Amino acid sequence: MALICLAIGCLYTFLICTAFGYTLSPNTEIKVNPPQDFEIVDPGYLGYLCLQWKPPLSLDNFMGCTIEYELKYRNIDNERWTTIITKNLHYKDGFDLNKHIEAKIHTLLPVQCTNGSVVQSSWSEATYWASPQGNVETKIQDMDCVYYNWQYLFCSWKPGIEVHFDTNYNLFYWYEGLDHALQCVDYIEANGKNIGCRFPFLEASDYKDFYICVNGSSESKPIRSSYFIFQLQNIVKPLPPDYLSITVKNSYEINLKWNIPRGPIPAKCFIYEIEFTEDGATWMSTTDENEMYILRTNESLQLCFLVRSKVNIYCSDDGIWSEWSDEQCWKGDIWKKTLSFLFMPFGFASLFLLLITCLLLYKQKAILKMIFHKKN
Ligand SMILES: *[C@@H]1O[C@H](CO)[C@@H](O)[C@H](O)[C@H]1NC(C)=O
Ligand SMILES: *[C@@H]1O[C@H](CO)[C@@H](O)[C@H](O)[C@H]1NC(C)=O
Ligand SMILES: *[C@@H]1O[C@H](CO)[C@@H](O)[C@H](O)[C@H]1NC(C)=O
Repeated sequence: MALICLAIGCLYTFLICTAFGYTLSPNTEIKVNPPQDFEIVDPGYLGYLCLQWKPPLSLDNFMGCTIEYELKYRNIDNERWTTIITKNLHYKDGFDLNKHIEAKIHTLLPVQCTNGSVVQSSWSEATYWASPQGNVETKIQDMDCVYYNWQYLFCSWKPGIEVHFDTNYNLFYWYEGLDHALQCVDYIEANGKNIGCRFPFLEASDYKDFYICVNGSSESKPIRSSYFIFQLQNIVKPLPPDYLSITVKNSYEINLKWNIPRGPIPAKCFIYEIEFTEDGATWMSTTDENEMYILRTNESLQLCFLVRSKVNIYCSDDGIWSEWSDEQCWKGDIWKKTLSFLFMPFGFASLFLLLITCLLLYKQKAILKMIFHKKN
């Protein structure tokens, strides 16, 4: 009896489930709210921003469930969004503050919390623009930064076009590891205006984003700020190589050699470009080594080369060629030259001696003649 009751009970349950199954599911559809208080915060690091948010409301149904967030952001004129999936409540990245920034975020419920597919909330959105003052013409122009020999950073610029003569510019910089943005302490000036900056030693600054802001002030009108982001290892300009040498072995093998530029750049980080001239015909080549073996094509009389250096792709994404080294030459007729150089003075001396001897002999003859004449 009990068994039959149970069976009937089961049948009822089954019928109810199948009858209401489809209509019930929309009612029990799992929904989740978007994150709260989504905002873009500028901590004053000249482009390194923090995107932050709070957990969505009414999460009680998902106790023990790890909630994730899908975050998308971009500078407004970028086609592509950067997408991040995170369990945290903040995310930091570098942005170009010359432009508008937009970001959006939604909550994700993973499959294990929903007995099915991933559930997403609607988007929360936020935008940011570092309140731009002044018109674009007041910005500095032609900003140029070079990291000389991976040691000394140097930036220079030209004043904006439409600026009053009282305008002056200031440079601020920041990278991860500094507590706050610092102002340049050693400006390069022209007519009392800042047109560049010599940076101090920048400890632990490689392979991370380096942020610069050049803003300005003027009594007459506001000045638009300019922002720059780069990595220092990508703007290194090394010293040129020195102590070049050419060795010609068995009259057809040539060995070109030079010294690795002095300074902190490791030897394995260099690429060299060689400009080689053989009797007026010139070619170029590159190598990662600080020497090169080549074959002499002709019985050339003069070989010359010069070298310049750059940081290679194993140590940076980009670089600036050094100046060219001094030229080093080798002369094929060196023996003839040496011979003539050695023997020319010697020949002259011999000739001179011969002349004097002759003269003396001649004089002696004359004297002897005189004596004989007297005797007679
Ligand atoms: C998922 O299914 C299990 C049992 O199958 C159930 O206990 C749990 O409540 C369900 N979770 C949700 C979010 O529907
Ligand atoms: C220039 O930028 C720095 C750093 O962000 C800021 O402290 C300073 O007030 C700005 N100056 C002007 C004139 O906007
Ligand atoms: C080698 O000599 C030939 C003719 O003697 C000349 O045409 C050629 O340009 C020379 N090559 C070089 C590299 O000087």
